[in-house]
Amino acid sequence: MAFPESFLDDLAARSDIYDIVSRYVTLKKSGSNWFGLCPFHSEKTGSFSVNTEKQIYHCFGCGAGGSVYNFIMQIENLSFPEAVEFLANLAGVPLPQEDTRERDNRKRLLECSRDAARFFFQVLHSPEGKIGYDYLIRRGLRPGTIRHFGLGFAPDSWDKLMNHLAAKGYTKSEMRELGLIKANQKGGFYDQFRNRIMFPIIDVRGNVIAFGGRVMDDSKPKYLNSPEHQLFSKSRNLFALNYAKKTTGRRLILAEGYMDVIALHQAGFTEAVASLGTALTPDQAKLIKRFADEVVISYDADEAGQKATSRAMEILKPEDLKVRILRIPGAKDPDEFIREHGREAFSALLERSEDHMEFVLDRIRAKCDLETDEGRVNFLKEAAKTLARLSSPIEREIYASRAAASGSVSKDALLSEIERNRRAYQRRAKNEETRKLLSPEKNAQPASRALRYTDVKTARAEEGIIALLYREPEFAGALAAAGLSDGDFTSPFLQKICRFFLDQYRAGNSVTSAALSQCLEPGEMSELGRILSAPDQGDSASAGRDYIRILKESRAKHQPADGADPLLAMRDLHKEKKSYGGTK
Ligand code: GTP
Ligand code: MN
Repeated sequence: MAFPESFLDDLAARSDIYDIVSRYVTLKKSGSNWFGLCPFHSEKTGSFSVNTEKQIYHCFGCGAGGSVYNFIMQIENLSFPEAVEFLANLAGVPLPQEDTRERDNRKRLLECSRDAARFFFQVLHSPEGKIGYDYLIRRGLRPGTIRHFGLGFAPDSWDKLMNHLAAKGYTKSEMRELGLIKANQKGGFYDQFRNRIMFPIIDVRGNVIAFGGRVMDDSKPKYLNSPEHQLFSKSRNLFALNYAKKTTGRRLILAEGYMDVIALHQAGFTEAVASLGTALTPDQAKLIKRFADEVVISYDADEAGQKATSRAMEILKPEDLKVRILRIPGAKDPDEFIREHGREAFSALLERSEDHMEFVLDRIRAKCDLETDEGRVNFLKEAAKTLARLSSPIEREIYASRAAASGSVSKDALLSEIERNRRAYQRRAKNEETRKLLSPEKNAQPASRALRYTDVKTARAEEGIIALLYREPEFAGALAAAGLSDGDFTSPFLQKICRFFLDQYRAGNSVTSAALSQCLEPGEMSELGRILSAPDQGDSASAGRDYIRILKESRAKHQPADGADPLLAMRDLHKEKKSYGGTK
């Protein structure tokens, strides 16, 4: 839902950034800012700053930053609308009423989706769906499990679902939006899911938002999944999370397939979830973090599953979750394993699930032929490189012992190779730091590669202009008088922000960090946090003149030489004339 800007501004005004941040971080005053230990990365010196005048926070260590909304999003793992709701609750402010038409529309879509699920469920339990029901029983599901997950069957028909939903009063366009029907070439419609077992996908609030449909033989595609629509995002939901979130342990099991998850729940592992027909996404990792501190990856035992495990580990890393890997012997998936060996056996695997380092070492070992000297040398080198990254000496010692034993190499050789790697790392890190100190220009680059500046000097001036516009909106007038606008910016990212500032200025609105949080990506917002937290230039008038001069020089450099295009040159002349008043 989109919130009116006036509401966001009002709520931000009632949610003072100092008060909100202080709930999580102890802040001490230093100069005009407050400082504390950054809650987003581990550190011993406080590089986390809060500026109450601008109502922003920024960490000089990890680059996190933004408005009070960004802070809540980051620290509570919430989406923007959820953060707004969170702060509104704290402030005791009621949320604005959603546009009733929009809300009715959403409600109807949810009802339509639920009615489709009911239809599939009824068909599964009718003679027409017997073939599907028998299939599920053959796969080891109990009737209670089938009911619990609301599994269903899409009849082998072109229009049964469509007719059923039409009789209930839903429109073709609603069914189409949900991906339940498709248009044919003649302008008619037909059921998308036919002759398939239907798995309803249910969000954490209990709404049926989509379906996965599986064939009952080896035909392709094995699964059809609903397309994304306004109520369904594949990357922000997890299969069975509606049940798994109710388990108490703050642990989730991440499996690959719907059938795996269902088999796991049936066997009592009700903390199992799966992604929805795509690889794990960063949004899903955030979702997991909301409900768990530990995640056990239990993907298929084949090579594809192991590759997917490595990828999932990378995706989960930023969320600071304890990640363990469960490996199933005999190249099976959890579903097959449980059916063959039972829940106790799976429970034992779960207990024995490896931590991340063991999994990585195993992957290295599998790549090296330990029968040969060359293979053992390779293993020693690779393992040492990996273990050198562990910061705890105890962990290095323990894993080195295990790796040495399992790789048939000597522990002393491995340890000394690890030390050699560590010294090399430290040297490199130190050089990097010195290089950064010696070249402040590199420091000025945004952390995200996508936002990197091509012309750092000009971009610095552009940053200065933005900071100035934020503090003194009237500077927009000086900029216009100098014949400059966002169009003269060299960095597309800064240009976008400048355009936003100038538009707001023209419309007579003041720019607030609340409004910005809504229109910038989180990465962009933290860059803006960095820009706005730069120390104020004492004399803003002279700083402003410098920025204008630099921007003009850059424009001259990037424009065709004088006279190359007479029309352009004339337009420029016209602009220059206006701009001389006072700035020179
Ligand atoms: P079974 O083969 O019945 O055990 O199903 P499964 O759920 O274990 O499926 P599998 O391990 O083959 O695949 C894992 C997951 O990948 C599935 O649950 C689906 O979400 C997804 N998937 C598999 N095949 C397809 C496909 O053909 N299309 C799409 N979109 N997703 C698929
Ligand atoms: Mn399977």
